[in-house]
Amino acid sequence: MADKRVYLETMGCQMNVLDSELVLGQLCAIGYEPTDDIRQADLVLLNTCSVREHAEEKVYSRLGEVGQARRKRPRMIVGVIGCMAERDPEMISQRAPYVRLICGPGNLNELPELIREVQETGELAVALEHDNSRKLPKHARTLEHDNIESLDLSRTVVPGGSVLQSFIRVQRGCDKFCSYCVVPYTRGPERSRPPANIVAEARRLADFGAREITLLGQTVNSYSCTENGHIVRLSDLLSRVNEVSGIERVRFVTSYPGDFTDDIFHAMRDLPKVCEYLHLPAQSGSNTVLQRMKRDYTVEQYIELIDRAREIVPGISLAGDFIVGFSGETDAEHTATLELVRRVRYKSLFMFKYSERPGTIAERRLPDDVPVEIKARRHAELTEVQKGISLAHHRAMIGRTVEVLVEGYSKAALKAQLAEQGEVAPIRWHRPDQLVGRTRGDEIVVFSGPASLIGRLVNVRVAEATWLTLHAELPAGDVRPLVSRAAM
Ligand code: 5AD
Ligand code: SF4
Repeated sequence: MADKRVYLETMGCQMNVLDSELVLGQLCAIGYEPTDDIRQADLVLLNTCSVREHAEEKVYSRLGEVGQARRKRPRMIVGVIGCMAERDPEMISQRAPYVRLICGPGNLNELPELIREVQETGELAVALEHDNSRKLPKHARTLEHDNIESLDLSRTVVPGGSVLQSFIRVQRGCDKFCSYCVVPYTRGPERSRPPANIVAEARRLADFGAREITLLGQTVNSYSCTENGHIVRLSDLLSRVNEVSGIERVRFVTSYPGDFTDDIFHAMRDLPKVCEYLHLPAQSGSNTVLQRMKRDYTVEQYIELIDRAREIVPGISLAGDFIVGFSGETDAEHTATLELVRRVRYKSLFMFKYSERPGTIAERRLPDDVPVEIKARRHAELTEVQKGISLAHHRAMIGRTVEVLVEGYSKAALKAQLAEQGEVAPIRWHRPDQLVGRTRGDEIVVFSGPASLIGRLVNVRVAEATWLTLHAELPAGDVRPLVSRAAM
């Protein structure tokens, strides 16, 4: 048995989920065992998010609880990693003086060393990024010789960790500097990983049982890396990952509308494993707001791009992000967002109330002047509009047969299993044999079936729909999993 235990909690985006997985792998390699119980932990790490104030406040309240647990276990080392560590290390030390380790997302490869340092000295150990590579042209900024690349290269599969759907980082950082966004300050400049490293990682993950790979980047469509004198772009990368046997599905998130080129649509149309799913945040449906946000496209250009996506990739499913209540947003500008949402008809949306972030362009130049009640009202309005669209989108799928990658038991099913031991009577669709999976278009599907289907592709028939989920049935008498595309 390992002699040390680590409790690692992840807040925030998919990049953080991936970072946490890599960090756990590193820690297991130096003798730590993961635990779900803070009280048992020798090392507690919070992997944090800075994108909205609310996320940071959650971390401080969590840190308060960790501080309590530490009183009973004084040798416990408490660390803050991720975007908040990079953004405001002083504030963390001030508000939680018992924190002994602060490490930004660009230095996570140094974590084992930092832990050793804290163990030896008992003092605070800090590692943050001081990267000047923004001055280099983008394609020259590869991560090939960057120390942080060792974090991704050292990826191991943690015992008990699920690799069925795996993320692979293709890019670090962001160069866009949208006026509201803190990411370029916390994750540094945009740098692409060498394609050979990415493909090798996909192969390794496939060997461990990965079936779906999501290529991750803050602006993934601007991926660009020089290899033997040639520039490799996202469409080239997609075609290389498409070749990896064992992998059935390939996705990529998140795309930036300004840089989108048709070769990516062609890759989605032509490569069998690349899913017909596009996450393309618009952020606002008003040109004046987009200008204040420093997004370098217009609503008209965005719509044109969406129309081209639908023309080239039949049946493409679209998701987006919107911020409501950005600085100076008028009713008319908000209405323009509602209109864009009605025009595009997204499968699903991520919607956020604007949260002013220290150090950003907006914080310096634009007042956060939309009252909280108006932000809340606009958020609710946008949610209502999208609910109707998602419901119609899902209802249109009733009667269709869809391919689902089965992820496991649905949460509802797990809840129902718990309910069986307690008192809440399971309602329809909340039966313990409920499996959950996703279509190629990222629709969530719940259906009854045997556990043996977990991890496999199956064809199911959509029977009912809500705005969040499709409810489906396995074809009668046929529970055979689909022959995998890769094996054909
Ligand atoms: N306030 C609210 N939402 C934000 N996002 C980024 N920065 C902010 C902010 N300051 C949203 C954007 C982005 C998503 C990840 O988070 O919509 O696409
Ligand atoms: Fe933030 Fe804009 Fe970069 Fe996205 S593209 S991470 S919103 S700065």
